[in-house]
Amino acid sequence: MKINFNINLTRKQKEAYDIMHDKETQFLIARWSRQCGKTVFAEIMMIEYLCKSNSFNAYISPTFAQGKKVFAELVALLETTGIIKKANAQDLKIESIYGATLKFFSMESPISIRGNTVSGLLVMDEAAFFPSQLPDGSDPYYNVIFPIIKARKPKVLVISTPNGRQGMYYDLYLKAYNKTSGYRELTASIYDDDLIKKEEIEELKKGYPPLAFQQEFEVQFLDNALTVFPNFQNCFDGKFEKGKCWIGVDPSSVGEDNTIVSIINADKQVKQYKIDGTLDMKYAKIAKIINEYKPVATYIENNSIGEVMANEIKKQLINKSNFYTFTTTNETKKQYISLLAVAIANNEIHFEQDNTLLYSELATFTFKLTKTGNITYAAKEGYHDDTVTSLGICMQCKEDFKLSGTPNVDFMITSGYRMVI
Ligand SMILES: Nc1ncnc2c1ncn2[C@@H]1O[C@H](COP(=O)(O)OP(=O)(O)OP(=O)(O)O)[C@@H](O)[C@H]1O
Ligand SMILES: [Mg+2]
Repeated sequence: MKINFNINLTRKQKEAYDIMHDKETQFLIARWSRQCGKTVFAEIMMIEYLCKSNSFNAYISPTFAQGKKVFAELVALLETTGIIKKANAQDLKIESIYGATLKFFSMESPISIRGNTVSGLLVMDEAAFFPSQLPDGSDPYYNVIFPIIKARKPKVLVISTPNGRQGMYYDLYLKAYNKTSGYRELTASIYDDDLIKKEEIEELKKGYPPLAFQQEFEVQFLDNALTVFPNFQNCFDGKFEKGKCWIGVDPSSVGEDNTIVSIINADKQVKQYKIDGTLDMKYAKIAKIINEYKPVATYIENNSIGEVMANEIKKQLINKSNFYTFTTTNETKKQYISLLAVAIANNEIHFEQDNTLLYSELATFTFKLTKTGNITYAAKEGYHDDTVTSLGICMQCKEDFKLSGTPNVDFMITSGYRMVI
């Protein structure tokens, strides 16, 4: 079967293609710059394996959303070729007329990866952003990935921009760099990228924080990854016990962002709720949680939708006097993110093991240094941080209302909250 796509492979994609077809190579660790065709290359390889009879193939990404996107892109690409027998958007599974299967997994749900046997191709996209530890403390590579490739020794494409000298991706890269048999590496910095012009690189460089540029475009493994919450995995050890607590809400109206309610108790055990539905349903659900948990105080983020939401929720509250809006600015965000970072570094905050959304968002939360040396915090491009900001606002609420119901006045001034009137 010959399928024609109107695409010329870039130089590095061609090199990678050849390595993937080298009999001696099982693992290709590709260390590539941002936006230089990593995912497209992975898609080309997956199409090839969908044409191989009876193979089981897998694509693993750090987040579920990313897998969903690649699934949709592949289905759209293959729609007219007739090679898809079945594509199930619920299971994120594609079956080809040749009996090959491609299934999409994410590190948000490592349990669902277990028990599969990959015989054809395994792709790990953005592998540097896989968590370095699973919620139960085990190692993701040896407990989840290795078992699915052990029996049939499929081709393994590990592809990413770097994210510090740590984790599975860095370990695999070193194996390849040290010429371990069966492992190859292929490095492509922005200077090797056929898709971008020299002048465009200079422009990009000017507008980019230097460390981030070194990591994301010059593909350097920095000593310290631009990660805000090192070893956050250790904090996924908790249960939540009801009692004295504080609540933070990060609202969103529609679209990709989630509305997240965070609750923290006096022992810094955290519970989070993801609130779905129409706006009216969201108001009712959030009010119900607040009425049920009876927090010392609640903060709701005062973004575009926050003000309206706050007023609507307030109408449904039993106790309206301890409900405040909170304005996130770069300064207030810095403050609550450092509260969270300190609590995580000291291992004194506890998340529930099944809170996989928070788990993946902590892993992809990063900072950038602006040219003036300021730090801005946000999710890595293409990822979300709703659970992190909701939790941060919740921690700020706890900090400000340490002394049950009496706000700490100094914090009142700096932390930008005010009462909903
Ligand atoms: N060989 C190619 N020829 C032309 N355009 C390409 C080629 N490969 C990729 N592209 C385009 O370049 C852009 C980036 O591709 P892709 O998403 O695969 O990059 P990436 O390295 O995975 O990016 P990210 O770092 O954001 O994950 C897309 O618009 C894609 O269509
Ligand atoms: Mg990509």
